[in-house]
Amino acid sequence: MTTAIRVSGVTKSFPGLDVLRGVDFEVARGTVFALLGSNGAGKTTLIKILATLLKADGGSADVNGFDVAGQPAKVRDSISLTGQFAAVDEILTGRENLILVARLRHLPEPKAIADDLLRRFSLTEAGGRRAATYSGGMRRRLDIAMSLIGNPPVVFLDEPTTGLDPEARLEVWRAVRELAGQGTTVLLTTQYLDEAEHLADRIAILHQGRILVNDTLAELRKLLPPAEVEYVEKQPTLEDVFLALTAKDTP
Ligand SMILES: Nc1ncnc2c1ncn2[C@@H]1O[C@H](COP(=O)(O)OP(=O)(O)O)[C@@H](O)[C@H]1O
Ligand SMILES: [Mg+2]
Repeated sequence: MTTAIRVSGVTKSFPGLDVLRGVDFEVARGTVFALLGSNGAGKTTLIKILATLLKADGGSADVNGFDVAGQPAKVRDSISLTGQFAAVDEILTGRENLILVARLRHLPEPKAIADDLLRRFSLTEAGGRRAATYSGGMRRRLDIAMSLIGNPPVVFLDEPTTGLDPEARLEVWRAVRELAGQGTTVLLTTQYLDEAEHLADRIAILHQGRILVNDTLAELRKLLPPAEVEYVEKQPTLEDVFLALTAKDTP
């Protein structure tokens, strides 16, 4: 099975608001897929549906081969979800946070798991300090590390770098690449075009309830006329593609 996430015709409305109006896409196993959209586009709504926290009105979706509506427990066993607001306990040290989660999941050798994750996320030195003393980037990295305990094959990162300063964003990007390098499937949402450019194997733009495009960055760039040669040649950035496509679709 090479498809980790399959979304087909998913619709979702809130009173007076059709947020998702038939969303379709697939994410191949072991790849990073970025769902790009403005604030309010419906990214979190879709993630919540895929994480079984919210029911779709229509359509279907499966994650790791399990139907989100019919097999929610199997889906939850297959995923981790890290939201925009870190779930770290500030009173505990980084290491204690990790050990706590490993214990809650009834895993053997929680201390070894914690130390391994601290190393993978470059938090070994900080591991003994209370999380309250961590920078934004460190806290988000710890949060992602916590979500990986138990090695879920599919990881949802909902706006993993929103609110972080540029340096902290780079730290989180490194952590995401590390994840992808280990074969985990990552679905991340972002409002930042450069984030999608740097991290994603494929990028989909969610706009007005539908997926406008879904392709590699190289292919998305081709949607615009080739770079013009004036004094300097400038490749269209993903931002150019995004703005051109979303402008076209706005009534
Ligand atoms: N529980 C809810 N009840 C009513 N409206 C909601 C609810 N959740 C989200 N919305 C609305 O749905 C739209 C999409 O929200 P969301 O999925 O959070 O967007 P994004 O994550 O892309 O910023 C927004 O207009 C938001 O206000
Ligand atoms: Mg959101």
